[in-house]
Amino acid sequence: MQFEQTFMNFLLHHQEKYNRTYHFLILMEALMSAAKHIQYYYLTGALRGHLGFADAVNVQGEDVMRMDSIAHEITVHYLRTTGRVIHVVSEESADIIPLNVDGGRYFVYFDPLDGSSNVPHGLPVGFLFGIAKRNLEGPEDYHLRSGKDYIAAGMFVIPTGTFTIALKEAGTWRFHIDEIMNYVKPVRMILPEDAKSWELSFNSANRSTYAQNVQEWIHNNEKNYAFRYLGALAGDFHRILSTGGMFMYPAIVNHPNPKKNRPAGKLRLMYEAAVVAFMCREAGGHAVDETGTPILDIQPENHHQRTALYMGSKPLVDDITRVLTT
Ligand code: AHG
Ligand code: MN
Ligand code: MN
Repeated sequence: MQFEQTFMNFLLHHQEKYNRTYHFLILMEALMSAAKHIQYYYLTGALRGHLGFADAVNVQGEDVMRMDSIAHEITVHYLRTTGRVIHVVSEESADIIPLNVDGGRYFVYFDPLDGSSNVPHGLPVGFLFGIAKRNLEGPEDYHLRSGKDYIAAGMFVIPTGTFTIALKEAGTWRFHIDEIMNYVKPVRMILPEDAKSWELSFNSANRSTYAQNVQEWIHNNEKNYAFRYLGALAGDFHRILSTGGMFMYPAIVNHPNPKKNRPAGKLRLMYEAAVVAFMCREAGGHAVDETGTPILDIQPENHHQRTALYMGSKPLVDDITRVLTT
């Protein structure tokens, strides 16, 4: 028989090594439970009509909840049970959701099901989360934290069964789900330096809508790399973490229908871009927005704000930063 180290065991040792409390374990146990629960629904989702092809009503005439609402409800439920969460910000809720406002210790920002175009096909989606901690020393309790203030950020790729988490200043680690639904076998992820394996990932159909200098950069560089695009940030970033290269979701500024421009980008800062940027940094990479500002330095002004994203191997991100800033 072969036994592997579980995520929880890994985390217990991590907390012990850094002299940390058990509160974070309680929080992580809740996120693991939520992910497993979402995974379960997703695996049977096509059969049960939760993936969206079945409209909102099943054959019995009952309302069928869509996967993103299911994933949201599951996640809020488990986070509430911890008693450790002050409030959550979810892509599925316009307002912040207060949980244990006075006694909680953490802020959790999450997208319970990212990659909506993959959902009707049952193809990979992501459950992305970032975690910040209440300022226990001072009076300030500012909940709009920038990514550099996150203490951890991670993603589950569903239903693939991988879990990747970055712990502040302690690296990015990947786990795989095993036969008994444990996430096991920690592997430290470091972006490969050798450009041979690097890939580019962006929605190529949008390229004519990008800023002129970004289009030129793509034109001059794309022949050097393989191109892959799944259309779900977690899955695309999962590849980049292993292969190196760069994921981009640039600002849309040259759309033939100006109403369709997205000068602020598409991805959400707090629970999409900053989450992957945090994991990317802990793996030795970098991420910037359309102005070349590091994603992790952006101070959010609202929970659902968007940003452009250029993320991956540092030499590539530095190169596009030069283009973006000149
Ligand atoms: P959503 O939050 O609506 O599910 O968006 C998914 C995101 C992200 O996962 C992905 O990288 C990107 O949108 C794909 O967008 P395009 O379809 O425009 O390429
Ligand atoms: Mn999303
Ligand atoms: Mn979502």
